[in-house]
Amino acid sequence: MIRVALPKGRLGERVYDRFEQAGWGCPAIREDNRKLIFENPERGISYFWAKPSDVGVYVQHGAADLGVCGSDILDEQTPEVFELLDLGLGVCRMCVAAPKGFEMPRGRALRVATKFPRTARDYYSRRSVDIDIIELHGSIELAPVVGLSDVIVDIVESGRTLRENGLEPIETVSAVSARLIANTVSYKFKYDSITAVKAALEETGK
Ligand code: PRP
Repeated sequence: MIRVALPKGRLGERVYDRFEQAGWGCPAIREDNRKLIFENPERGISYFWAKPSDVGVYVQHGAADLGVCGSDILDEQTPEVFELLDLGLGVCRMCVAAPKGFEMPRGRALRVATKFPRTARDYYSRRSVDIDIIELHGSIELAPVVGLSDVIVDIVESGRTLRENGLEPIETVSAVSARLIANTVSYKFKYDSITAVKAALEETGK
């Protein structure tokens, strides 16, 4: 049995569709209920819905053999997993954004609000910019608007949240997309099944 951790939410639904198209469906998952785990014993696959930022934890510890996780989260958490495939889903970018007319502060550190402290720290340390991180857990766009920070480092998809709050992207930190990841031990012991799933997903994505 291959155990797959899917990110709960809109991206997860699309990721599951891709597994189904690839021939690894699990009809029970379509039922309208609050269950978190679904099995297809005939096909030898099971799925569970995890919080997107927890998928890497389940896979690293071997509670799931495979998982799908945004590269933004992988870059931030650096879990010990194998990255097998870029699924080309959930495509967006990690950006620095600021209020229109923003200028770098002089004589003090740049205040950066973000859900991705390691990513932000790495980005600015490569540029030798002195920063103070303000770690938040959501609605990051609020921070510069209410004076909590100068800029934000956050995900931009359509750009609508930035626009509607008077902000604009000023730098791109990285391109982001959903990645198939594997537990390092499962990869050895379930090599044939894992590579079969990977190949089918790769084929379906063409
Ligand atoms: C993400 C991200 C931005 C928004 C970007 O937030 O943090 O706020 O989506 O999308 P857009 O460019 O299409 O407007 P999410 O919905 O994950 O919620 P959050 O506030 O908890 O970060």
